[in-house]
Amino acid sequence: MSDNREWVDEAWQDVIQKVSRKSSKIGANFPHASINGTYGLADPHWWTAGFWPGQLWLLYRDTKNESFKEIAEECEVRLDKVITDYYKLDHDMGFMWTLTSRARYTLLGEEESRRRALLVANLLMGRFNVQGNFIRAWNPWYEGNQNEGWAIIDCAMNLPLLFWASEETSDPRYKNTAMKHADTILNHFIEADGSVHHIVRFDPDTGERVEFIGGQGYAPESAWSRGTGWAIYGLALCYRYTGKEDYLDAAKKVAHFFLTNLPDDYVPYWDFRLPEEVPSYRDSSAGAIAACGLLELADNVPSTEAAIYKRGGENILRSLYDNYGAWENDQEDGLILSGTGHFPENSNIEVPLIYGDYFFVEGLSILKGNKGLF
Ligand code: GLY
Repeated sequence: MSDNREWVDEAWQDVIQKVSRKSSKIGANFPHASINGTYGLADPHWWTAGFWPGQLWLLYRDTKNESFKEIAEECEVRLDKVITDYYKLDHDMGFMWTLTSRARYTLLGEEESRRRALLVANLLMGRFNVQGNFIRAWNPWYEGNQNEGWAIIDCAMNLPLLFWASEETSDPRYKNTAMKHADTILNHFIEADGSVHHIVRFDPDTGERVEFIGGQGYAPESAWSRGTGWAIYGLALCYRYTGKEDYLDAAKKVAHFFLTNLPDDYVPYWDFRLPEEVPSYRDSSAGAIAACGLLELADNVPSTEAAIYKRGGENILRSLYDNYGAWENDQEDGLILSGTGHFPENSNIEVPLIYGDYFFVEGLSILKGNKGLF
């Protein structure tokens, strides 16, 4: 993936300049959605906590800008407060510590970061349901909320921490657990046409599948675009770590569904199956995530097949850069406009989202010939 194009270098410079201007304002905090131009800060236990430090690590790798490194390190230390918070941590600890501790260990060999990432891999393993072969997604959102049997497609992106832990320790338990969850994705989340369910509820005791739940998508049988992106990238990564062809085939199937449902400017609506009366806002974050997945796929298939995925990923990133970027606008903290966080809850609609920014930067970094951080 090394045949850079001029626009990629230009976009990369725009990212560096904008993040340099914004980094002292945001500081060692956990931005989530940018409302009226300002990134709102989330608590450190929130699933998005890794994306700002992760973005800084991607840029530090290229620029060696010490202030990016210092902010990312401070974010990681701030996460220590929640690493022992049994009540608040959920399966998204995979995202959080992959982009902080694992990233820092990989880049700088920091032993304390390795320890944190391995500790979190063990915590993530503790959420595995052996009857249903899935990693439990969330803790109860309110008293009496029984979501012990809920698994969600987003978790595909938490699995790389487990694959990494097996590589680090030579202990196959982590990888085998991640593969059990990935097999459950294949068996229960992906439809024959390549569309993907957000939430599947299992009986936590018997492991039987009970129902599909719409979650952040429009409906149980619709096709939430960000979930589709999580599936493409997550399954492509499962293939990279395991070599199991079923994951590659499934990632390709979902990728074809995603690509054939894109509008003319390649940036998806928030759900691919919306009734006419429901507003079809874009979700730029879904585009950025899927683009990274498509580029990962391109790297894992024979060259005769790779072009469709490479072109698909580039088209999305190019359109995000040309049509959705906030490069010159210093009244806007975010990099990429028009994300849709959670339409059914009417929250964070048509705004920059930190994970949209992150995956845009990761996608550019991949186009420049690097690996992503997962
Ligand atoms: N993991 C939640 C989301 O994608 O919004």
